Amino acid sequence: MTSRYEVHEHDVLIIGAGGAGLRAAIEALSQGVRVGIVCKSLLGKAHTVMAEGGIAAAMANVDTSDDWRAHFRDTMRGGKFLNNWRMAQLHAQEAPERVRELEQWGALFDRTEDGNILQRAFGGHTFKRLCHVGDRTGLEMIRTLQDRGVHLGIDVYMECTITRLLKDGNRVAGAFGYWREQGRFVVFRAKSVVICTGGIGKAWKITSNSWEYTGDGMALAYEAGADLMDMEFVQFHPTGMVWPPGVQGILVTEAVRGEGGILRNKNGERFMERYDPKKLELSTRDVVARSIYTEVRENRGTEHGGAYLDISHKPADYVKRKLPSMYHQFLELADVDITREPMEVGPTCHYMMGGIRVDAETAQTSIPGLFAAGEAAVGLHGANRLGGNSLSDLLVFGRRAGLAAAEHARGTETPTIDYSHIDESVQQMLAPFERLDGEGPYAIHSDLQTTMQGLVGIFRCEEDLRRALSEIETLKERAARVHVEGSRLFNPGWHLVWDLHSMLTIAEAVTRSALARRESRGAHSRIDYPALDDAWGKKHNVVVRNAGTMTLVEAPVLEMPDDLKQLLAEDSGAK
Ligand code: FUM
Repeated sequence: MTSRYEVHEHDVLIIGAGGAGLRAAIEALSQGVRVGIVCKSLLGKAHTVMAEGGIAAAMANVDTSDDWRAHFRDTMRGGKFLNNWRMAQLHAQEAPERVRELEQWGALFDRTEDGNILQRAFGGHTFKRLCHVGDRTGLEMIRTLQDRGVHLGIDVYMECTITRLLKDGNRVAGAFGYWREQGRFVVFRAKSVVICTGGIGKAWKITSNSWEYTGDGMALAYEAGADLMDMEFVQFHPTGMVWPPGVQGILVTEAVRGEGGILRNKNGERFMERYDPKKLELSTRDVVARSIYTEVRENRGTEHGGAYLDISHKPADYVKRKLPSMYHQFLELADVDITREPMEVGPTCHYMMGGIRVDAETAQTSIPGLFAAGEAAVGLHGANRLGGNSLSDLLVFGRRAGLAAAEHARGTETPTIDYSHIDESVQQMLAPFERLDGEGPYAIHSDLQTTMQGLVGIFRCEEDLRRALSEIETLKERAARVHVEGSRLFNPGWHLVWDLHSMLTIAEAVTRSALARRESRGAHSRIDYPALDDAWGKKHNVVVRNAGTMTLVEAPVLEMPDDLKQLLAEDSGAK
């Protein structure tokens, strides 16, 4: 049948062109299948660049005692043992090879004196493990993967938003979306689809995430029938800018602390001595974020409601060499010379540990042909991610997803597209132009951000979470009546309508999961249940769609084999 829509055909369609998407595309292409990659923004504009300080991989270039076992142990301990142990094992074992490969593809790194990739300290990592290039590691990674992918011949569809996954029976059949510039609808038929769309930072007011991060991939997967898991675990990076207001939330890389930066309160106290006297500023992110937040709440914060982060005791040329972006960022945006004076910093919503539930080996979801990798997927990080583990995650599981997606495509017939589903989506997407009495989407988005920031933040309690759920319900009703002006031609208000749909869906999943988990673990801190609870340590919250309704079920944490249990019990061997 001839379609009324523009149709593109691929074996493997990848949604999202950050590190995971590009790595998946490269792997699928190398298997000889036809690969398309769709991104909402311009190619290369991805949250991957916000992992500035480095890629975690046990290469042992600086600390020769490091190995995959130590990396595995740190990742599991940092994630409070809620991690999928198999993912943590594969990640620790494969990360060094993925970094070497990146280097062969042209990535530049800072070097040790004998010419190896230089590695720096980061929170929760026992050894100096983060391979880096100044404080621009994510950018270098994207640049390299993009060059490689384009060179291999990926078909790139930029500025295209996907709003629905298409299915043929139970299996995936492709995706439907629209070109952001013209508003024209477009259909992608594919045997395999890989979701690599990142997280949902834009549902919070103070965030390191840019406009693209609205939970799209998680919402697409959930609506297609895949499971979401561990959605209560949202990472607040301890250090975002707090002043001036226009730059609030912009990331201040953990590399500042990795290079010796010290946190102080307004009284000049090095307050991490009270919260984690052993690891101090290099404690895990959940601990440092809570510590800063507590200092501010107890009136020991800075003038603008943060903490001081000081690296000015290091030589100025060292700071400029190791942290060039931070130096320019503060000079240009805040008129602060970090080689002479401290920065003001505070927690900023940065990353989702929770996401689409996948198989550890193949990254496949419960839907045949649907895969997910990177921040959109769950498993590796457990209740709290260690800095730098995101970049290695993208490389290890992006590659695995691309490989499995290509294999799946090779063994599958071309799916059939049901155009009645597309017509239904088109009607749904055009409805905001036809409704004349509703409000615009901006106020609803701003109210959602206020709700999530105020009620589903670093510290949570039953009363706040219940209020958040009821506010999300009201916001959903308002969103169902939303109205947009103008036409489909580049119309940011209309784009936000769909983003809002995704954000509301995923914000609800986060809030329901946070309400259910009556304990504090990693990034999920309940003031009404402040302790770890062994029973909760044995289970995950899984979010499923049941007859159109969001439902929570519990799933057991996978039993770890004895040799890995033994590994976890051992000391790290750090000096
Ligand atoms: O602080 C940073 O450079 C961020 C790294 C990460 O999120 O992995």
